[in-house]
Amino acid sequence: MDIFPTIIMIFGGAGDLTWRKLMPSLFDLYRDGRMPHRFAIIAVDRVPMRDVALHKHFLDGVKRFSRNGKAKGTDWNDFARHVTYQQGDFKDPATYSNLKTRCTHLDQEWKVKAGHIFHLATPPVMIGVIPRMLAGAGLNRNRVRDRIVVEKPIGHDLDSARELNRVLTVSFHESQIFRIDHYLGKETVQNILAFRFANPLFEPIWNRRYVDYVTITVAEEVGVGHRGGYYDHAGALRDMVQNHLMQLLCLVAMEPMVSFNADEIRNKKVDVLHALRPIPRGAVQQCAVRGQYGRGKLHGKKMRGYRQEGDVSTHSPTETFAALKLFVDNWRWQGVPFYLRTGKRLSCQFSEVAIQFRTVPHRSFPAESSRDWHPSRLVLSIQPEEGIVLGFQAKYPGPKMLLRPVEMRFGYQESFAVPSPDAYETLLWDVMNNDPTLFMRADQVEAAWQILMPVLEVWANTRPRHFPNYAAGSWGPKAADELVARDGHEWRPIA
Ligand code: BG6
Repeated sequence: MDIFPTIIMIFGGAGDLTWRKLMPSLFDLYRDGRMPHRFAIIAVDRVPMRDVALHKHFLDGVKRFSRNGKAKGTDWNDFARHVTYQQGDFKDPATYSNLKTRCTHLDQEWKVKAGHIFHLATPPVMIGVIPRMLAGAGLNRNRVRDRIVVEKPIGHDLDSARELNRVLTVSFHESQIFRIDHYLGKETVQNILAFRFANPLFEPIWNRRYVDYVTITVAEEVGVGHRGGYYDHAGALRDMVQNHLMQLLCLVAMEPMVSFNADEIRNKKVDVLHALRPIPRGAVQQCAVRGQYGRGKLHGKKMRGYRQEGDVSTHSPTETFAALKLFVDNWRWQGVPFYLRTGKRLSCQFSEVAIQFRTVPHRSFPAESSRDWHPSRLVLSIQPEEGIVLGFQAKYPGPKMLLRPVEMRFGYQESFAVPSPDAYETLLWDVMNNDPTLFMRADQVEAAWQILMPVLEVWANTRPRHFPNYAAGSWGPKAADELVARDGHEWRPIA
């Protein structure tokens, strides 16, 4: 089915996100024949640039980051014909009237009123400016054809998120707003819904009767790189937990949706956030752990500490690691702890959800058979492994009844033998198709902030005297292990 003719206007068109993610993804969609028959991409930014230079810059990004590897000359040239540059200050009304004129010309050429996508690949502060300016130029009026895309972070805390949502909804209707959390575009993240609700097998045991606890880990080897300026004002809780980890939690804990309707799914997710037990300020110490990496070694290479990174204060109190213990207060999950952790410069890179099932109610096997006994565990691997692993007990071959843990595996690559699209491909395609299922609604963003506010406030008011408290290339602060060990639990050990 052909997508309606669309003009994509990228604010921050000369910036890093456009170069690294948006253009390679749009090009991959084009190569796969998934762009509309009629489309135009206008990169909008302040720096003067000619189309030729813009194309060269984008081609460089495509070569580095495209899923399809190197761009073939003809494909790229065909695609590049759709891409132009518009120089303009985001605060200047002339920028918007120029865009409007270009849209009108395209409409005349295409003999149709095209859809408009305004993608804000800009610093968050521009959310306060661009929507208002678009509205001033009348580029917000069609509730179906005019759409705006904003990137996380949506706010710095609950109040600022509310204010941004307010500002956005003054100019655009909620149905026109697409808030990106790129985790939702990942195949393996979407597969959580498929796995849970397209199979009758696990849903009956997906509850407090059978599940002992759940761990959600997003571990990164990377440090803050060139993003120190942004990160030092954000930290792991804002940068990762408020969005990516909360989204994973929602998908794992939500009730079955009645239909695959965007608002139905988003309602079920927001129910989880509303059911999260508030963390009293006095309990932050027991429920949350923060860490910051110091110098260390990763894969044999010396790594600098966070405070030695560019644009980071030498006494920075910002956390590069965060772990939380949360409870979902509803019938399904009462009493089941959900442990979340994320960190930078950890010893290996992986994201996963591990569902730890309860042990059997009675051990009828001889004592020697169960020395190596592990309760069943289901691991939903998000990256770099993409698949699902079920760990359970099996009889070890031999005359005796000895039990050993074994694994049953599903891997995306082996099963489907097609490459997974980049999350941005999925999300950009969904925006063009006006499908908001994988995007964050205002109430969801605010509910996620609300639950984290006591932790953010306590951490802001008490300087961490023990930072840095984990070495680059390690498994994070000891206190994160203690957080789960106090309940007799563990993070899934990684080889
Ligand atoms: C971004 C964060 O949202 O997600 C980064 O701002 C983080 O700090 C990145 O590195 C992780 O994304 P992915 O897809 O590489 O897991």
